[in-house]
Amino acid sequence: MKNIGLLVALVSLFIHTFAPLLPAQTPIRGQASSGRQLFYSSALSTNGLSCAHCHADFDEGKQNDGRIRAAHSLYNGAGRDTWWGGAPEQPDSFPNMAAAALICIEDYMRSPQKLTAQQLLDLQKYLEHITKRPVSSPQAIAPAADKTGLYPGFEGGNKFKGRDYFYAACHSCHPNGNKGIAPAVPRDREPAFYAKKIREGNGLGAVLSGLDPNAYDRRSGLFMPFFGADRLDNEKISDIIAYINSLPSP
Ligand code: HEC
Ligand code: HEC
Repeated sequence: MKNIGLLVALVSLFIHTFAPLLPAQTPIRGQASSGRQLFYSSALSTNGLSCAHCHADFDEGKQNDGRIRAAHSLYNGAGRDTWWGGAPEQPDSFPNMAAAALICIEDYMRSPQKLTAQQLLDLQKYLEHITKRPVSSPQAIAPAADKTGLYPGFEGGNKFKGRDYFYAACHSCHPNGNKGIAPAVPRDREPAFYAKKIREGNGLGAVLSGLDPNAYDRRSGLFMPFFGADRLDNEKISDIIAYINSLPSP
């Protein structure tokens, strides 16, 4: 009995001495529900963008919601060996999918302070949560900048079809073609001007297409995403251009 009394006293002394220190020392864990809120939150960015502006978090093939997002869905992606099209054996590959997202947070969401350690864990947990059938091969990114830089052949689109595509792909940032998160879209430019902007975005599309390694400069502050060939084909782009050309001035 005497020993038990001593033990209790020792344990109680231990708890009183060390308990206040414990929370800080307990390793933090991610929470999928908090990660989901981060995915949909514009508060992570300095320009109003959220991940959801450019990525779906579900299977777009099976649950098509009619939106055309510039980037691929992040669904089923957390088990990939590499991200951003990197070869699996590449030494600088990201440790996990949330770390690969930091490029978007800095370059597209213009948030140089990035995420806290807790937010990174939460985001990673959510990306794992939406990975039901893990895919290990890298996501094929299909940047399609015109190698000549001239963008011929985007004339003669159908403005009626283009209206639907515009609302599916552009409206979230250029509401009705006017200023929103992004500036207003000019109406009277030649087709090549629009095609270049859609295919190259802030310039990253030209870099990833191998057209010009210096086409994107982080300090420029630009953040329009590029639309690859599997997100918008040339015909749809021609239609969107015909629609924009038919709009009244902003
Ligand atoms: C302005 C658009 C935009 C925003 C906002 C954005 N991304 Fe991206 N993201 C892209 C583009 C474009 C790519 C490269 C092409 C692709 O994956 O389709 C990309 C690629 C990625 C990749 C690499 C995908 C892979 O499998 O290789 C990850 C991971 C990612 N984004 C996560 C995120 C997360 C998480 C957020 C929010 C915190 C976010 N992105 C916000 C446009 C965006
Ligand atoms: C995720 C947000 C976003 C989406 C989606 C988006 N844009 Fe943009 N767009 C921007 C931003 C931001 C700019 C300003 C330049 C920059 O930051 O790269 C811009 C600039 C432009 C410009 C150049 C304006 C000028 O005066 O030079 C055109 C043209 C344009 N966008 C057309 C489109 C079209 C067409 C679509 C749909 C296919 C589209 N954008 C989708 C964000 C977006």
